[in-house]
Amino acid sequence: MNDQTQQLAALRAAAMQERDPTASDDVLAVLLNEAARIGAKRVLEVGTGRGLTALALLLAGAEHVTAIERDSARISSARENFAAFGVSARAELLEGDAADILPRLSGTYDLIFLDCAKVQYRRFLPDCKRLLRAGGVLCADDVLLFPDGVPKKRKMLAQHIGEFLQALLSDADFAAQVLPVGKGLAVAHKKERP
Ligand SMILES: C[S@@+](CC[C@H](N)C(=O)[O-])C[C@H]1O[C@@H](n2cnc3c(N)ncnc32)[C@H](O)[C@@H]1O
Repeated sequence: MNDQTQQLAALRAAAMQERDPTASDDVLAVLLNEAARIGAKRVLEVGTGRGLTALALLLAGAEHVTAIERDSARISSARENFAAFGVSARAELLEGDAADILPRLSGTYDLIFLDCAKVQYRRFLPDCKRLLRAGGVLCADDVLLFPDGVPKKRKMLAQHIGEFLQALLSDADFAAQVLPVGKGLAVAHKKERP
């Protein structure tokens, strides 16, 4: 491990200790693997928290990450972290709700990591699809939140996630599967047009 990788591992451990959400080790491993497999240069992260997964992708070879975050404390942490790692010029942090920001984005991304409020996944899917290049990969975290049954109070959330998965898995433009890593990671490859 080099210094920056160690530093990032410490930040990830601290976030987990403080129960501030960040991708689990196995989810991060899949993300990094997918990024390497397709040679992802441009990444979009919807829900960036302290910027730790964005940092991991940048350290692993992504050229540029566009990161969306709405929580002001996490925005400050992410900015500090990007600066501490010397990657601020390659990490564009868009502050605000992805519901407002995503429709205004243009261009294309090689890899999109959808990791915001799960109730919004279904709503954000069309923009993610539009912004993902053919041959690119969309990963959505925490899609198997209730393996032992849905608690009464979470029925609405489970329904939203179910609708997202149904839309993703039945979309002929994607080859998608759900991996049993973390709390379920959907990995969807946007097919190349013939
Ligand atoms: C699971 S955390 C992100 C962790 C980060 N991706 C990582 O792996 O380190 C989810 C983040 O999404 C943010 N979020 C949730 N819904 C959002 C929305 N609609 N727009 C922007 N940020 C959102 C939350 O504030 C929170 O920081």
